[in-house]
Amino acid sequence: MPIKQDCILDYAQTAGRRQYTRLIREHLAQKYDAPPLALVHSFGCQQNAADGEKLRGMLAEMGYGFTDSLEEADLIVYNTCAVRENAEKRVLGTVGALKHYKRQKPELLIALVGCMTQQQSIAERIKKSYPQVDIVAGADAWANLPERLYGALCLGRRSIKAADEEPDTIVENIPTRRTGWPKAWVTVMYGCNNFCSYCIVPYVRGRERSRRPEDILREVEELVGEGYRDITLLGQNVNSYDGGIRFPELLRQINDIPGDFRIRFMTSHPKDCTRELLDAMADCEKVSKHLHLPVQSGSDRILMEMNRRYTTEKYLELVAYAKEKMPELALTSDIIVGFPGETREDFEKTLELVRKVGYTALYTFLYSRRGGTKAETLPDPVPPEEKSRWFRELLEVQGKIGEDYMERQVGKTLRVLVEGPGKGEGMMTSRTDQFLIVEFPGGPELAGQFVEVEITSAKNWALMGRLAENF
Ligand code: SAH
Ligand code: SF4
Ligand code: F3S
Repeated sequence: MPIKQDCILDYAQTAGRRQYTRLIREHLAQKYDAPPLALVHSFGCQQNAADGEKLRGMLAEMGYGFTDSLEEADLIVYNTCAVRENAEKRVLGTVGALKHYKRQKPELLIALVGCMTQQQSIAERIKKSYPQVDIVAGADAWANLPERLYGALCLGRRSIKAADEEPDTIVENIPTRRTGWPKAWVTVMYGCNNFCSYCIVPYVRGRERSRRPEDILREVEELVGEGYRDITLLGQNVNSYDGGIRFPELLRQINDIPGDFRIRFMTSHPKDCTRELLDAMADCEKVSKHLHLPVQSGSDRILMEMNRRYTTEKYLELVAYAKEKMPELALTSDIIVGFPGETREDFEKTLELVRKVGYTALYTFLYSRRGGTKAETLPDPVPPEEKSRWFRELLEVQGKIGEDYMERQVGKTLRVLVEGPGKGEGMMTSRTDQFLIVEFPGGPELAGQFVEVEITSAKNWALMGRLAENF
């Protein structure tokens, strides 16, 4: 779907930025001797984490400093996730516990934003049962957040409102406070049109919309100029990116930006993952040879029920082509265990597929029923204990595959990007092109550099190594 120019909003031109940011800044300067502190916590996926960095950027402009401590915070912002019931329960539990902080510090402001609060029913529940919450805004409330914060902060006005409609805009030029150097996220598209039958994301994130390629290219150029070395392009389904050019071409253009950096991207939906994309990955030297290609299930019957629109045969064909083009490719995936109606036979097909593909890592989830989705009303006869047993079985199978893969790295010399201090004393942590963690003895001056490390041993969570001779 080509870009609709009228859905792009320039944050710099909004009243939020021009007017309310200044009013809040003045108010805070009068009220506090030192900058007040905000705690911003994002739940959920990388897209949410990337949004959290924008929230921080906006708040910094308004005069806030930052803290991770609940006791110190003058403003708490939870950027929420709705993908599974557990995610929602965690947010509500955390917010419940804040009642006590608010009693001790009545001027504390609490805001909930993001996917969970995009739902009207949740907004109503919070309005009634969580009086400690001052602001509720949906996943797409960027432009009017300053005004609502101004209302709560300066006028004592509680503002609880899920978005009236699904989000449908892209807001450009939001100041961003990144926290992951030398890694950075760049969202290339928002929303999702796929409506997999179990998934709430299309309902809370709205329809697909793509950023203009020139905005993306400019952002990546700036990041590389600032010393970022690992750029992850984000979208719920990057393969349906359409900003006038399609995703493989976008990758090629980003690859042409001068500088020594890596490009990653996620997520790729198998139904739209083309040979053209795999060719672009293989051709572009800066694009990491790591593909996150969520399969969700190894049973065609379940894939059909999930509305995934591919078969295991098509998936395995793609994997075979990708491995042929990129023998060093690392594949990772998401799998749902216990989708309504899944049988032991279906589950065994998933195990079989997992063994066939040989993933380096798997993100496994127990199915969680989501209100408003197609799968909500499907009969779900398998008891939770049985599903949990399958879940553990899958973890065990993958555990062995992952271990073998890690063992095979021992003795190799790998190029890694050093991220910062590691777990052990005097250790640094780094990532390979395939996104494996490597720890090695080294000094903090190496952070942000690419170095070569000889792998000496493997643990299940990381590889251990030492700097290669020439470093
Ligand atoms: N757009 C991405 C993933 C978004 S959500 C994609 O299509 O791959 C991340 C993962 O959460 C999904 O891949 C899926 O495995 C899992 N998930 C989504 N809804 C779920 C649900 N209702 N129950 C359990 N897992 C779910
Ligand atoms: Fe959810 Fe499917 Fe969209 Fe991924 S592609 S966000 S799983 S609906
Ligand atoms: Fe959760 Fe929203 Fe991401 S529902 S997984 S934070 S898109």
